[in-house]
Amino acid sequence: MNTILVTGGAGFIGSNFIRYLLSSAVGFSGRVINVDALTYAGNLMNLADLEGDSRYSFRKVDISDCAAVEALFCEYGIDTVVHFAAESHVDRSINDPESFIRTNIMGTWTLLDAARKAWGARKDVRFHHVSTDEVYGSLGPEGFFTEESCYDPRSPYSASKAGSDHLVMAWYHTYGLPVTISNCSNNYGPWQFPEKLVPLMIMNMAERKPLPVYGKGENVRDWLHVEDHCRGIWKVLTGGKSGRKYNFGGNAEMRNIDLVHLLAEITAEQTGRTAEEIHSSIRYVTDRPGHDMRYAIDANRVREELGWEPERSLKEGMAETVRWYLENRKWVEAVRSGEYRTWMETNYSGRLF
Ligand code: NAD
Ligand code: DAU
Repeated sequence: MNTILVTGGAGFIGSNFIRYLLSSAVGFSGRVINVDALTYAGNLMNLADLEGDSRYSFRKVDISDCAAVEALFCEYGIDTVVHFAAESHVDRSINDPESFIRTNIMGTWTLLDAARKAWGARKDVRFHHVSTDEVYGSLGPEGFFTEESCYDPRSPYSASKAGSDHLVMAWYHTYGLPVTISNCSNNYGPWQFPEKLVPLMIMNMAERKPLPVYGKGENVRDWLHVEDHCRGIWKVLTGGKSGRKYNFGGNAEMRNIDLVHLLAEITAEQTGRTAEEIHSSIRYVTDRPGHDMRYAIDANRVREELGWEPERSLKEGMAETVRWYLENRKWVEAVRSGEYRTWMETNYSGRLF
C-alpha cells in the first residue's frame, strides 16, 4: 500500500481512520488522499492538526462525479481505496432517501468502476468497503449476525448500504476486482456529528435540555469505540482475504434507555450534578418508523482470522467520550451553528471552493 484513497475522510469514522493511519501506532509511510464532498457531515476541523503533514492531502470531490473520480486514480496512482463516504443517518434517510441512493449506491458504483478501469487485472491492489450491520435487518431477543446472515434491510439507509455491498461483491465476482467488506455495529467516540444518539445525549445533558428517547427505549444496539473499528479496518487491509466479508462488533449490547442512564451517570460524575436530576430530563418521543429492534454481531471471524478484539470496555470508552465532548464544546458549537463551514472557507480559501 503506497497511496490510499480514503473517501468520506472528513466525516466521523473516516477522520478517525486517517488520524489512526498516520499515527505512530501504524507507522504508515505512504500517502493518504482524503476525498470528501463536504456535505453537512463533512468537517475539515476534524483533521486540522494534520494540515502540513506531507503524507496527507485533501480533495473536495463528490464520489458520484465519474470524471472527477477517474481523474483521481490517474493523478495519484492509487493502489488502495478505503470507502467510508456515505449518507449515514437513518432518520435523514426516512425524510430524504434520494441523497442516500445517489451517494451510497451510485457513488459506490462510480468508485468501483473507476478502480476497475484504473487497475485492470492487477491483484496487488485493494478496494475496501466500509459497511454496516444494519444490512442484516433486525434481530429478536436471541442470536447474532454472522457474515453468512441473509440481507434484510429495513430503512432507506440500510437498503442503500445493502445495495452498495452487493455492487462491491458483483465487481469481485464479475470483474475480479480485489475487494473486502466490513460490516460494523454502532460506533461512538470523538468527532461524531451531534445528531447521533451518543453525542446528542451528552450535549443535551450538558445543556440541561430534554433527552428524546424513541419509543420505549427498548431497542438494543451493540456499541464499539471508533478507534477499535479503525484498528479492525487496518487489520482487514493488511491481513484480510480478497472477496471476503468481516463483521465487527463491540460485544457491548445495551438497550437505548440503559445507555442513556449510563451516560447520565457518567455526565453527573464529570459535572458534579446528580444522575437523578439528569434522568428527570428523559422524554419518551414518537418512535422512528421501521425502527430495528436489536443488532448484535458475532465477531468470531475477525477474532480467529485477524486476531482482532475490541480494546476499550463500554464504560471506559463512554467515560472518555463524555469527557471529550465536554472539553470540546467549541467544536460542537461550530458544528451545530454551521460555523464550521465558515471556518473551512476561511482556512481553505482558494484551495477548495
Ligand atoms: P458521517 O456521516 O460522519 O461521514 C460521512 C462522510 O461522507 C462525510 O464527511 C460526508 O461529507 C462524506 N460524503 C457524503 N456524501 C458524499 C459524496 N457524495 N461524495 C464524497 N463524500 C461524501 O458517517 P460515519 O458515521 O463516519 O460513517 C462512515 C461510513 O461507515 C459510512 O459508510 C457508514 O455507512 C459506515 N458505518 C457507520 C457506522 C456508525 O456507527 N457511524 C457503523 C457502521 C458503518
Ligand atoms: O449499526 C450501525 C449504524 O449505527 C450505522 O450504520 C449508522 O450509520 C449509524 O448512524 C448508526 O445507526 P443507528 O440508527 O443505530 O444510530 P442512531 O445514533 O441514530 O440511533 C441509535 C439508537 O438510538 C437507535 O435505536 C435510535 C435511538 N435514538 C436515536 C436518536 C438520534 C433515540 O432514541 N433518540 C435519538 O434522539
